[in-house]
Amino acid sequence: MQASIANPNKALWEKGDFTAIAAMMRESGEALVQSLGVKPPLRALDLGCGDGTTAVPLAQSGADVTGVDIARNLVEAGNGRAEELGLRNLHFEEGDACNLIRVGDAAFDLTLSVFGAMFAPKPFDVAKEMVRVTKPGGRIVMGNWIPNDPTSFVSQLLKISSAFTPPPPEGFISPMTWGVEASIVERFGQAGIAAEKISMVKDTFLFTSPDRGPEQLIDLFRQFYGPTMNAFEAAEKNGKVEELRAQLIVLAKSQNTSGTGVSIPATFMRVRVDV
Ligand SMILES: C[S@@+](CC[C@H](N)C(=O)[O-])C[C@H]1O[C@@H](n2cnc3c(N)ncnc32)[C@H](O)[C@@H]1O
Repeated sequence: MQASIANPNKALWEKGDFTAIAAMMRESGEALVQSLGVKPPLRALDLGCGDGTTAVPLAQSGADVTGVDIARNLVEAGNGRAEELGLRNLHFEEGDACNLIRVGDAAFDLTLSVFGAMFAPKPFDVAKEMVRVTKPGGRIVMGNWIPNDPTSFVSQLLKISSAFTPPPPEGFISPMTWGVEASIVERFGQAGIAAEKISMVKDTFLFTSPDRGPEQLIDLFRQFYGPTMNAFEAAEKNGKVEELRAQLIVLAKSQNTSGTGVSIPATFMRVRVDV
């Protein structure tokens, strides 16, 4: 509890229950891992892993996987899933992507972070840490939402939400900058990686729920997703809850491709760094 008060980044992600959102991301998590072409033996770190959207399929493909996340509740949920699935080659532990104090140098062949490390507050430290813990000859793969891309669903959701919340503290660096090519090159550049070793491509992640419509989807984010919870709390104080909800529903409807439930394709920046 004390740690959460001292660390707003941790408090934000422990506030809700991201497992409720992650349940809609499993299909794409599996597809992304399949596209990595994992060939065991391989040691993999999943950074900002949540409850294992990508860590679980990584372990199922035979890699030896450590999931690191700042939120204690998600680490517990991940370890629960690993046990349920009988995955002895997967374990989750608490840690901060800005400073991976429990991880040695060159410990992993693959460092993966899908919409995870992008939310840590010190991006230059994050890049440095990802490079440090990856073996020379290994790779880093990141999935990051893209700012100002109308088809990058979460980025749009956060943009709308931010208009209803008080301005962030001075010095705050938006997580969305991890979706900007120049920022990515600069951050890994400072970590010692030449630009030729970094490649980026736009990819799509699906949010799917067959038995939930766009309104229920937004209500789920309102109930369980820390950043949206905060936006609604701030909107409540200003009597703007209905305005916020309406704007988010318009967004979800505009992106939804399912006639009966929810299927939202969301564009993201897929980054590969050869270390
Ligand atoms: C949007 S969720 C994505 C979770 C997971 N990668 C997935 O795709 O389901 C962001 C995750 O990043 C984690 N996170 C945020 N800041 C972090 C930090 N500084 N260090 C480690 N994890 C962090 C959160 O706790 C949360 O689990």
